[in-house]
Amino acid sequence: MSTKLEFVDLKSQYAALKERIAERMQRVLDHGQYIMGPEVAELEQRLAAYTGAKHCITVASGTEALLIALMALDLKPGDEVITTPFTFAATAEMIVLLGGVPVFVDIEPDTCNIDASLIEAAVTPRTRAIMPVSLYGQCADMEAINAVAARHGLAVVEDAAQSFGASYRGRKSCNLSTFGCTSFFPSKPLGCYGDGGAVFTNDDALAQACREIRVHGQSARYTHTRVGVGGRMDTLQCAIVLAKLERFEWELQRRQALGARYQALLDGAALELLRVRPDRDCVWAQFTVAVERRDAVQQALRDAAVPTAVHYPRPLHQQPAYATDAFGPLPNAVRAAGRVLSLPMSADLGEADQDRIVHALRRAVGSA
Ligand SMILES: Cc1ncc(COP(=O)(O)O)c(C=O)c1O
Repeated sequence: MSTKLEFVDLKSQYAALKERIAERMQRVLDHGQYIMGPEVAELEQRLAAYTGAKHCITVASGTEALLIALMALDLKPGDEVITTPFTFAATAEMIVLLGGVPVFVDIEPDTCNIDASLIEAAVTPRTRAIMPVSLYGQCADMEAINAVAARHGLAVVEDAAQSFGASYRGRKSCNLSTFGCTSFFPSKPLGCYGDGGAVFTNDDALAQACREIRVHGQSARYTHTRVGVGGRMDTLQCAIVLAKLERFEWELQRRQALGARYQALLDGAALELLRVRPDRDCVWAQFTVAVERRDAVQQALRDAAVPTAVHYPRPLHQQPAYATDAFGPLPNAVRAAGRVLSLPMSADLGEADQDRIVHALRRAVGSA
């Protein structure tokens, strides 16, 4: 008899961590410092040490992390930020919210990350920053991107919402550029039980700016040195991430083993697998494949009780809020948006369930 498959199995994770989470939460309830309590600084120290970045500033969400990083860079109306059209909307949304202009550059077809070789041609005198997204848990070619940025005096903001824990050439995601911004949305590789996020940087002045912006621009209590936001992460959410950190390395290894297993089991099937470049790894925030006739495949999987999702069905340059043809047709992003399909993935996915998913998918694409 088959049990119900979860797209992201947070229930098993909670069962494994229940006591630690309860202990951590109880401590917060006992000391009562719900805002900026000691768990906030403790988590920031732990995450900074984990990534190797000098500074970690926890914030209210991954979206807020992007906003605060761009505000710390003092992005001005009309400033251009080069980014990918194949991402969650928050990436471009925060640029636009500050009056900036997202300049979309096409993606690599085999990783779905921004194509670093196309970035330099998109630089103009208005360009202020490059914002690559480490999509599905694999970093873009950050050294190539940093090299373009260095040649033109630009900042690089890694949208690492999906890649906390990933490595690139021996360094951790979030510590690869001017800023790394991650999300602790519950289903992310490292999640809390609500909204949360963090900004990472090695620059003391930018870190101080982020700390101030997070609390309405205050450099001291009721001294509003700059314009900021209400962008803090709750103490309770920090406590939950601290509890989850205790199992995080094991979870990463499981995700990587399951990702490799999916790739091996789907080898030769009538679909495209994304490639992981040899100089980096992937934490598989999503395990995503590309298929023909996606709607039919998704329906066949639904009939087999296999939940799936589409990350993302429309590239941002074709979304009503960001529609533009100013940057060309961006064919790789358009093609990916029509074909990608994400399969169940979490550290607690069992091999028997994974076999069942693979069997159903192979049947659905006609290569059982
Ligand atoms: C690439 C990307 N950027 C930004 C975000 C926003 O993160 P949050 O939901 O924590 O605001 C997400 C989350 O879905 C994301 O996947």
